[in-house]
Amino acid sequence: MASSSKEKNKAPAKLWGGRFAEKTAASVEAFTASIHYDARLYKHDIAGSRAHAKMLAKQGLISAKERDQILKGLGQIEREIEAGTFVFRPELEDIHMNIEKTLVEKIGPAGEKLHTARSRNDQVALDVRLYLREECRNLIALLAGLQKAFVVLARTYQHAVMPGYTHLQRAQPVLVAHHMLAYYEMFGRDRERLSDALKRINVMPLGAAALAGTGLPIDRAFVAKELDFPKITANSMDTVGDRDFIIEFMSAASLVQIHLSRLSEELVLWTTEEFSFVTLADSFCTGSSIMPQKKNPDIPELIRGKSGRVVGNLMSLLMLLKGLPMTYNRDLQEDKEPLFDTVDTVSQSVAIMSQLLGNLQFNEARLAAGLGGGYMTATDLADYLVLKNIPFRQAHAIVGRTVAFCLSKGKELTELTLKELQKFSEVIEGDVFKVLSIEGSVASRVSPGGTSGKMVAKALKRAEKEMGISA
Ligand code: ARG
Repeated sequence: MASSSKEKNKAPAKLWGGRFAEKTAASVEAFTASIHYDARLYKHDIAGSRAHAKMLAKQGLISAKERDQILKGLGQIEREIEAGTFVFRPELEDIHMNIEKTLVEKIGPAGEKLHTARSRNDQVALDVRLYLREECRNLIALLAGLQKAFVVLARTYQHAVMPGYTHLQRAQPVLVAHHMLAYYEMFGRDRERLSDALKRINVMPLGAAALAGTGLPIDRAFVAKELDFPKITANSMDTVGDRDFIIEFMSAASLVQIHLSRLSEELVLWTTEEFSFVTLADSFCTGSSIMPQKKNPDIPELIRGKSGRVVGNLMSLLMLLKGLPMTYNRDLQEDKEPLFDTVDTVSQSVAIMSQLLGNLQFNEARLAAGLGGGYMTATDLADYLVLKNIPFRQAHAIVGRTVAFCLSKGKELTELTLKELQKFSEVIEGDVFKVLSIEGSVASRVSPGGTSGKMVAKALKRAEKEMGISA
């Protein structure tokens, strides 16, 4: 069939359709489309295209007039997407094609010049880096909010004492503030890890083109400056096949969720009748459809449950890359759904956990009741003997026998008389009772990083300073 020369010069319906004789099968269009999830990258796609168009004009690859037409068209598209009037077309596969095709329809030939010296391979890398840079910064800020919640709790319950556990058995008394600041440290490391990942997210990939770079006279540094990237990627092949920055983020984010899960487990335990260490606000719990008396800790339970999908998403990405030859492969399109899910899940979990902590009360009477019965100052007695020059292993055995005696008599260590104590070691004197008290035990832990009031006050001060909270 002969076609007019006008038709010959027209771009095909599909932007890549020139070499194809047959229409794409409907099933193939449905299978390959990603627009239903990558539409969320529209802002970043448009920002990237704006910077690219400005660069093309600066380099004389398009005219200033064409640049302005492109910028105007992109602005219109952005407003339509935000107003919900933009029509996304699955047959155009992804967000990049949907925007480019609509631009061409709006402004004509100038729109057809936008993709000069660009491939979707470097374009999608740019979009995801822009998106993730923003989300990573957002998560870092949310984590700072979570850390603040722990600092506030530490200040509120600065002098309250609670049982510290190993193996979930009562071990040694600690300050509630010390326990709270343990989480402060944990989430501080998470923030550091994300800030470090951000360095490798924040690198500008555009200009790698399909895989080999381009012969057209582009200016990558200009694009980087426009989009506020401190540097550009070094190797065009690596650039279009690299998803390490996503995996690093997902790995750091997985650890955040695992930390939240550990905290959740404690909250679930602490809200049981058996512990009753804390009370959650009614507004942060839900009830049972059958048991009228129930008040359930659903938020920590769900956060704990969601750690499965977050770690699963990380595994998906690792498996996605395994065995991929250089450079871009369509497999890589599968990176987005797990990434988006991790961003959403972890950000929401951190945010709601911060709110929940602001609505949590420690029951100090219950904490105090938890301090008896566990012989939690037994180590203090052993240390007392060490200071009287008894080798630690011998001291350990002496205290072990003392505890066994207490168990047989149903007594606490503090309930023994000096005489009874001296049966186990003659070096024991009247000053031992201070050592056996809960308060004495806590106050004695003055090693750096220990739970004494002195050390915790120092740690709290530092945390408040780091968080910009004035005491
Ligand atoms: N939707 C694709 C993705 O997310 C964009 C890149 C497609 N590139 C290509 N050569 N088909 O990976």
